[in-house]
Amino acid sequence: MKNIRRSLIAGNWKMHRTSSEAVDLATEINHLIGQETDVHVVLCPPFTALESVARLVSDSNIMLGAQNMHPQPEGAFTGEISALMLRQLFCSFVILGHSERRQYFHESDAFINEKVLAALKSSLKPIVCVGETLEEREAGDTGKVVKRQIQEGLNGVSKQTSEHLVIAYEPVWAIGTGKTATPEMAQEVHGQIRELLAQQFGNSAASRIRILYGGSMKPGNAADLLEQPDIDGGLIGGASLQARSFVELVEIAREKS
Ligand code: 13P
Repeated sequence: MKNIRRSLIAGNWKMHRTSSEAVDLATEINHLIGQETDVHVVLCPPFTALESVARLVSDSNIMLGAQNMHPQPEGAFTGEISALMLRQLFCSFVILGHSERRQYFHESDAFINEKVLAALKSSLKPIVCVGETLEEREAGDTGKVVKRQIQEGLNGVSKQTSEHLVIAYEPVWAIGTGKTATPEMAQEVHGQIRELLAQQFGNSAASRIRILYGGSMKPGNAADLLEQPDIDGGLIGGASLQARSFVELVEIAREKS
């Protein structure tokens, strides 16, 4: 079942790297990866580096993603970026609903849903992030939280466009902390997410949607995570800022796919 889904390793560089530093990092990754075809590789630098990194990876199989966007096509939204602007910079993916956006910028499920629909309409593949905080996990609410985030975040997405969705399960307590969910803990939630996707889109469509794990994934723990039946790749923060560790993750994903 798993091999109908191509593994995907995405690097979320967050607010790291100026455009010239981003070019250096992308150059090194590009060089080490060569012409990767078995694994989808996506780099998500800051907005300011999208254009320079796009130029650099244009002859490779590396794809480009943004870290956020506004749902409106244009307008008086100072400081915001639209889907069309991202498409023109050759972005194929956009991370939406990252827990840092939910936490620091108060993004609601309803707002994230507007973005998901707008991204799909513009042929951008959304990487929709979900995940519980430590308090929510300790209260036994993980399933409830993830269910709400999936159902509200994907409200109105059609079965036809669902194959362009990517979901990332990122337990908030595992992000940047060095604490990873055990493979069993992660698989349990990934399985629940696939079940929710099946309820909305049907089994066949749900079996095509990639569900990534994110949260302190690194070369030392990736193999056990990527072996799980519903873990189709990783959304990598810290370990994506070093070319070697990021490329090692791509290699591990290739072995496990
Ligand atoms: P870390 O890999 O640094 O924990 O970050 C994960 C993440 O938030 C990716 O979006």
